[in-house]
Amino acid sequence: MRACRGEPVSHTPVWFMRQAGRSLPEYRKVREGIAMLDSCMRPDLVTEITLQPVRRHGVDAAIYFSDIVVPLKAIGLDLDIRPGVGPVVETPVRSRADLDRLRPLEPGDVDYVTEAVRMLTAELGPTPLIGFAGAPFTLASYLVEGGPSRNHEHTKALMYGDPELWADLLDRLADITAAFLRVQIEAGASAVQLFDSWVGALSPRDYRERVMPASTKVFDAVAGYGVPRIHFGVGTGELLGDLGEAGADVVGVDWRVPLDEAARRTGGAKPLQGNLDPAVLFAPRAAVEEQTDRVLASARDLPGHVFNLGHGVLPDTDPDALTHLVEYVHRRTAR
Ligand code: CP3
Repeated sequence: MRACRGEPVSHTPVWFMRQAGRSLPEYRKVREGIAMLDSCMRPDLVTEITLQPVRRHGVDAAIYFSDIVVPLKAIGLDLDIRPGVGPVVETPVRSRADLDRLRPLEPGDVDYVTEAVRMLTAELGPTPLIGFAGAPFTLASYLVEGGPSRNHEHTKALMYGDPELWADLLDRLADITAAFLRVQIEAGASAVQLFDSWVGALSPRDYRERVMPASTKVFDAVAGYGVPRIHFGVGTGELLGDLGEAGADVVGVDWRVPLDEAARRTGGAKPLQGNLDPAVLFAPRAAVEEQTDRVLASARDLPGHVFNLGHGVLPDTDPDALTHLVEYVHRRTAR
């Protein structure tokens, strides 16, 4: 939390996007025979799975185990998470009539989140819990495409073809996302991350005109709590300044832009999170250390640095490589 606020730290803190999940044998064991979305609705399982990487790797933060589509499921949309595929929506959202299915999220729709966050903060003690949600654009992409998409063609067709419907869709998603983050913060989350994973598909101009107002609405809705707000997307080198301006306190950076250059693009005053290429963890240990040193060197003059990967942990990553990486960053940055 101190790094997120640009305050002095005893070492650079480390956590990993997707630190809970298939890279861990203990995760695969507890998830056996339980569907992804069902597991997200069981506070006992959410608590166990969220704690697993904290116990194993000694990371400096836990990230709440859930998925970006959980609030959409909670308001009654017919969607599922297919193993190896991702979120799949039975009936895509493409018309004005479809919008009516996106009703507001009430805190009571996600009582299991409140319960799990409370259980977690009790267990975690001083280790912060990061809550999260999907940003309006990335959620819209799944809803409009009906599933994962490489080119986001239906999404862009709607965005350019019916700007008014698009703006209304993003506005509704902003309210749902804000409500979902509020539930997590009010139950005890110490920070939140807004994942706009696929927004790198847009030009800066389209981002500013057609997406940023909705993301800003989300950040504004949780500004009053004073918890750090992290914003991350993949392939967002050209959007880093805008992601910060949307209202984030900390900007997450993928591996394509070095952190010193990312600092120039975000104005130099914001702490950054990132950005080791997750695929580097498949290289020999000496190479992992060399690439980690590069990240740490590029972070030297930042106002704050939270070490992370440039995107989520890949499922076949050797868990021992992650444990070593945490230990290595702590050792190299001890002050
Ligand atoms: O440890 C953590 O980071 C917390 C858990 C987490 C999950 N999803 C669990 C999950 C988080 C933060 C997410 C967010 C999420 N979900 C994002 C944003 C982060 C990113 O990667 O950019 C996105 C785009 C999704 C949508 C989604 N859900 C995808 C692309 C997938 C993977 C599909 C697959 O199987 O390869 C999912 C499913 C999912 N979410 C899994 C997990 C652990 C795998 C399902 C399983 O274990 O059976």
